[in-house]
Amino acid sequence: MKKLVKNNVNWIGYIDWELEQFHGDDYSIINGSSQNSYLIEEEKTVLIDTVWAPHRFEFIENLKSEIDINKIDYIIVNHGEVDHSGALLDLMKEIPNTPIYCTANAIKSLEGQYGKHNWNFNIVKTGDSLDIGNGKQLVFVEMKMLHWPDSMATYMTGDNILFSNDAFGQHFAVEELFNDKADTCLLNKEAMKYYANILNPFSPLVSKKVDEIVGLNLPIEIIAPSHGAIWRDNPLQIVEKYAAWSKNYQENQITIVYDTMWEGTAKIAHNIGRTISKLAPDTVVKIFNCAKYDKNEIMTEVFKSKAIIVGSPTVGNDVLSSVDGWLHFLKSLKFKNKKAAVFGCYGWSGEGNKVLKERLELAGFQVIDEEIKSEWNPSEEDFSKSEALVSSLIK
Ligand code: FEO
Repeated sequence: MKKLVKNNVNWIGYIDWELEQFHGDDYSIINGSSQNSYLIEEEKTVLIDTVWAPHRFEFIENLKSEIDINKIDYIIVNHGEVDHSGALLDLMKEIPNTPIYCTANAIKSLEGQYGKHNWNFNIVKTGDSLDIGNGKQLVFVEMKMLHWPDSMATYMTGDNILFSNDAFGQHFAVEELFNDKADTCLLNKEAMKYYANILNPFSPLVSKKVDEIVGLNLPIEIIAPSHGAIWRDNPLQIVEKYAAWSKNYQENQITIVYDTMWEGTAKIAHNIGRTISKLAPDTVVKIFNCAKYDKNEIMTEVFKSKAIIVGSPTVGNDVLSSVDGWLHFLKSLKFKNKKAAVFGCYGWSGEGNKVLKERLELAGFQVIDEEIKSEWNPSEEDFSKSEALVSSLIK
């Protein structure tokens, strides 16, 4: 069933309330998700993107129940990743000559994934346009590295809709489609989680691209991403958020992340948390055991933080594998302008703190000298070091 977006533009995607993981197991889905495809029926009939491969047959049947697919004049591929191109191969078997509009990199991506089929590709660049009749045009905007080299957005004149693909999206199931119908708190949380866990490494490019989009002075009435809610009420709010998020975003928050073997390192974590509340009562404190709590949710909290404090006991001259794996993921997200401190218990050799410092520095954090390194169980003297550590972080 298609759902009305505006005038002759309908949503025709797949809302997935059961999805639990995305990008393999690298992104947790807690509030569902969607793959948004759009059908434009002006003088020309245009399909923008498709859905993930497991839903391709349902998608094509759905499309056939709405239109004669032989009447599709153009297919726009904003991005070749399989969650948006997954129905293309089977769709093109039925309408093999339909022109596809996409970037040059998208052809590489599509042919790499689905093979060469002599599809009628039409390469577009920023500023190129396509007349769809009724006085309306589609204008293309390359969105390189938001988040793949092939990504682009498509702007529809007349109805003033920006089909932004992954940018401005969220992994969030909203059956009613629009941001003004969605739970705002969850919507903003999921939009930030998406940014922190997928787009943050490309923040310098996001910042430039947001400036470019704003500089085009296009009237934007709707931002229709390829995942989650469509921004209809005050659509530029998400552009403003991206502008802020892309510039080393932080709030007055400190996040403590640790794992523990025999509770000593956990006790230090909680003592540091209490010390932050005592010395800086306006600072939000979050404490997570990274072996037990969702890694993507923790990264969203790191994204908001001005500093993080990471703890692990020493194990085999190293740190616990849970902490090590988490630090590896942390490094890939390329956070900037954040401080860090370390803590941990040890029984014998005690390299844990040194390892933590090295890995946090490699991840781009400014690691302070103050630390808590506790032999066996933390003593009152160890706990008393929390004040110096916290003072250094908040000064
Ligand atoms: Fe939603 Fe990059 O695919």
